[in-house]
Amino acid sequence: MTEITTLASEAERAVAAAETLDALEEARLSVLGKKGWLSAALKELGSLTPDERKQRAQTLNEVKEKLTAAIEARRTALADAAINARLKAETWDMTLPVNESAEMQGRIHPVSQVIDEITEIFAAMGFSIAEGPDIEDDFHNFTALNIPPEHPARQMQDTFYLPKRADGEQIVLRTHTSPVQVRTMESGPPPYRIVVPGRTYRSDYDMTHTPMFHQIEGLVIDRNIHMGHLKGVLTEFCKAFFETENVKMRFRPSYFPFTEPSAEVDINCSREGGVLRVGEGDDWLEILGSGMVHPRVLQHCGIDPNEWQGFAWGMGIDRIAMLKYGIPDLRAFFDADLRWLKHYGFVPLDVPTLGQGVAR
Ligand code: DAH
Repeated sequence: MTEITTLASEAERAVAAAETLDALEEARLSVLGKKGWLSAALKELGSLTPDERKQRAQTLNEVKEKLTAAIEARRTALADAAINARLKAETWDMTLPVNESAEMQGRIHPVSQVIDEITEIFAAMGFSIAEGPDIEDDFHNFTALNIPPEHPARQMQDTFYLPKRADGEQIVLRTHTSPVQVRTMESGPPPYRIVVPGRTYRSDYDMTHTPMFHQIEGLVIDRNIHMGHLKGVLTEFCKAFFETENVKMRFRPSYFPFTEPSAEVDINCSREGGVLRVGEGDDWLEILGSGMVHPRVLQHCGIDPNEWQGFAWGMGIDRIAMLKYGIPDLRAFFDADLRWLKHYGFVPLDVPTLGQGVAR
């Protein structure tokens, strides 16, 4: 009997000392496993006299229950400790700054930001986005837009010419996004309602001109479209883009070969103290060219001008970005200077939506 007591207290100590579930299982097997001493003692009961057996069985069962309970308790404690250790290791420190990650350190270029803002506004009006190649042929960049060879308007644009194609066609770096009007109309039947953001090229370089710059073109062709639609769309755009109901607009008669009539659009501004403010004051600032698409442009694209009409406009994106965000020198836009981008750029997750407001 003392032997059992000794073994039992040794087993209790082993259970209490088990630091891992494996060690605990080992302790359990040495007592209660098939070859454990308690299992062996229980098997020996059969060889005892009834009286001895009764007493010994009681003792053994008490020891068994006690050890089983101790093993279970230790198992629970070890499992808890394992989970706690894991929870501790996996703790998230919510106070750490979010912008530690590489993607939060990057900045969206003001040109990309303004393109996102403008396309968001026109998408809400039901426009889709169209694109075309930067390298254009003479037909799409000029002829189809009612700028025939020898037309003086070709000299208005300081074109970058590329070596002629094998078929003799002159190719150029597109001088405006207007050729995408033509490509869109060639690609399928009307109606169309598109905006075209993209790169454009002219041989020019000063504070407000770079050889590569950005434009956004718009085109609406449908039945019974008139200048009232043009005015309405561009007025709504300006209000949304500059986030003011007060912006005044002036539609000033102008000339473009691809529109008739044509209008340049000015918005009101103040230049007090050398600071330009949009939507205030009595000065005017030109922001875009527009007009009713010339019947000859429609004809070049195989569209019957008696059935379909529409309007178009073209706007410089870089200049409007400078305006909206007070950036003084256009040339810095394309210097790839990270300090400049840190200052004038936008946080990537700060996506412009109409709901939140597109102005910052
Ligand atoms: N393509 C013209 C330019 O680059 C801008 C323009 C004016 C586009 C009037 C148009 C328009 O679509 O209707 O100067």
